[in-house]
Amino acid sequence: MIYYKTPAEIEVMRQSCLLVSSALTEVAALLRPGITTLSLDKVIGEFIQDHGGIPSFLHYNGYPFNSCISVNDVVVHGFPNNQELREGDIISVDVGVLKNGYHGDHAYTFAIGDPGEDIMQLIRVTKEALYKGIEKAVAGNRVGDISFAIQEHTEKKYGYGVVRELVGHGLGKSLHEDPQVPNYGKRGSGPKMKEGLVLAIEPMINLGKRDIYTEKDGWTIRTSDHKPSVHFEHDVCVQKNGPDLLSDFRPIEAAEAANPHLFTR
Ligand code: CO
Repeated sequence: MIYYKTPAEIEVMRQSCLLVSSALTEVAALLRPGITTLSLDKVIGEFIQDHGGIPSFLHYNGYPFNSCISVNDVVVHGFPNNQELREGDIISVDVGVLKNGYHGDHAYTFAIGDPGEDIMQLIRVTKEALYKGIEKAVAGNRVGDISFAIQEHTEKKYGYGVVRELVGHGLGKSLHEDPQVPNYGKRGSGPKMKEGLVLAIEPMINLGKRDIYTEKDGWTIRTSDHKPSVHFEHDVCVQKNGPDLLSDFRPIEAAEAANPHLFTR
């Protein structure tokens, strides 16, 4: 069942999504070699609570942390831990917030130090693919138009592995609503989108093959070939005139550019 949001609901959702953006901006300022992902998770949890929200992921299907922090060959759903980050690591930070009854859910991948040309290109192209998908989030288009745009720019153009088992999703009173938003598919396929549909679009793109596996902890998802994977996620509302982005990368990018430990494209 697809829930279309009213303009008033969309403004409430925008606050939840922007609180996620602010939490990721805090992370962007703190990242450096030697920091642990568990310490980042604590900052994220406190920041969300200090701003009137609840971390959406904590206890979701038993998930035990505030955030998902996925380093290098971890695709998504990485557990924050006590391992220190190192120069050359890439790190996807995925945060969810429940505030005033609605969820925000988005993610950003950072490079700590220089991970090398190939990985910087993967980061750049995955972000580009996300925006190419978002461009299609217009009333009258179909979900498959988003999927196709992402797959074209990543798998077809660069030969990257597009993860099949995990997908984007509707977002609202629940963290995961219909429809599913795969990062691969056919143009003109899938449900037709109408104004007020809020989607979390989240390409998970592997430098090598698309195959993944789940670790024994039941959550951590890794690439089978142990090559790195990149994940960006935005929350977007479908409108007649075009996509309305509810999450905002600009403050995150500003903090990223100002942090001398982070590599930017
Ligand atoms: Co999501």
